[in-house]
Amino acid sequence: MQVDQTLYRAFEVSERVEGAKSVFAGRLVQKPMAELPAGDVLIQLAFSSLNYKDALSANGNRGVTRSYPHVPGIDASGTVVHSADPRWKTGDAVIVTGHDLGMNSAGGFAEYIQVPADWVVSLPRQMTLLQSMALGTAGLTAALCVDKLLQNGLAPDQGDVLVTGATGGVGSIAVALLGKLGFDVTACTGKLQERDYLQAIGARQVISREEVMNGGAKPLLNARWAGAIDVAGGGMLSAIVRSLLYSGSVASCGLVSAPEFSASIYPFILRGVNLLGVDSVNISHAKRCDIWQSLACEWQVPHLEKIAKIITFNELEAELDAILEGRGKGRRILDVCA
Ligand SMILES: NC(=O)c1ccc[n+]([C@@H]2O[C@H](COP(=O)([O-])OP(=O)(O)OC[C@H]3O[C@@H](n4cnc5c(N)ncnc54)[C@H](OP(=O)(O)O)[C@@H]3O)[C@@H](O)[C@H]2O)c1
Repeated sequence: MQVDQTLYRAFEVSERVEGAKSVFAGRLVQKPMAELPAGDVLIQLAFSSLNYKDALSANGNRGVTRSYPHVPGIDASGTVVHSADPRWKTGDAVIVTGHDLGMNSAGGFAEYIQVPADWVVSLPRQMTLLQSMALGTAGLTAALCVDKLLQNGLAPDQGDVLVTGATGGVGSIAVALLGKLGFDVTACTGKLQERDYLQAIGARQVISREEVMNGGAKPLLNARWAGAIDVAGGGMLSAIVRSLLYSGSVASCGLVSAPEFSASIYPFILRGVNLLGVDSVNISHAKRCDIWQSLACEWQVPHLEKIAKIITFNELEAELDAILEGRGKGRRILDVCA
């Protein structure tokens, strides 16, 4: 294939050492196609999307990205240009999320990616490339959380379900999906001014972070939640575990507040509560395909037009900063062709 001489556009983050510290800055560059990572499948992207992990990668977080210059972007959707693997052929519409994309492999903030064939998922027939990135890793993760809660017996008649970080990416999709499935959703947010947005996408009730964490250090708090999806960790997760109803479950998928939390054994042995870990990066290919298929059909997320907004490379840096500062709202789709 004769693509080695061609250039493609990518948002590349570079590291500059200033005195004792490193400063990270991103800019749109033209890169030779020959610099794409080795991989079986070359994909021309239509869209990427922004996630919390991208904001970390763009800001030099070594836990996400070890070395720079680097092209972030853990999500991508587009069309296969060339495949060395018979499972994919030129023209296939595909999604790539998770694995190492955008972490230590060049990611989706670019016009092209080249990845191992095992990372690639067929775009469900009932979904567009744009819709897939309105959901992205945030949508996949929210759906995996809902899936785990349902597997653990959560049903709409059992009581209220709490979603933390509700105006964020995972939070917004979780609120909309749970609302669609008939749950009474309580959205917990640091942005009470976004009450109308949260109610419009499916929340029945909107409460502050303080209201969830109220109750101090007691080993058991008032039992309020039949289930919960938590993106915060830290004191928030600790309070949720202590506030679950008998046999209730919390799906823990994030750490925007803190990566540690403390808990006593009492909620587990006196209320039989469940703490469920959720990972979207290394789930099996079969599970990944199943969840995307559900999102295209019976779990089609409502209100995506209110949740997701399309941005261009010019707006990327400001949007990544907003995510890192907790100012983000809903989902941002990157139109890599604009
Ligand atoms: N396990 C996985 O596979 C997986 C996949 C995707 C994401 N994640 C994790 O999930 C988390 C959320 O990701 P995202 O893409 O949804 O991020 P996001 O769009 O930036 O949303 C995060 C939201 O969390 C809330 N928040 C911010 N700081 C907070 C704090 N100190 N305490 C409590 N809430 C706070 C804010 O919403 P409010 O103002 O409404 O409270 C913010 O909008 C991140 O930790 C991310 O790494 C994990």
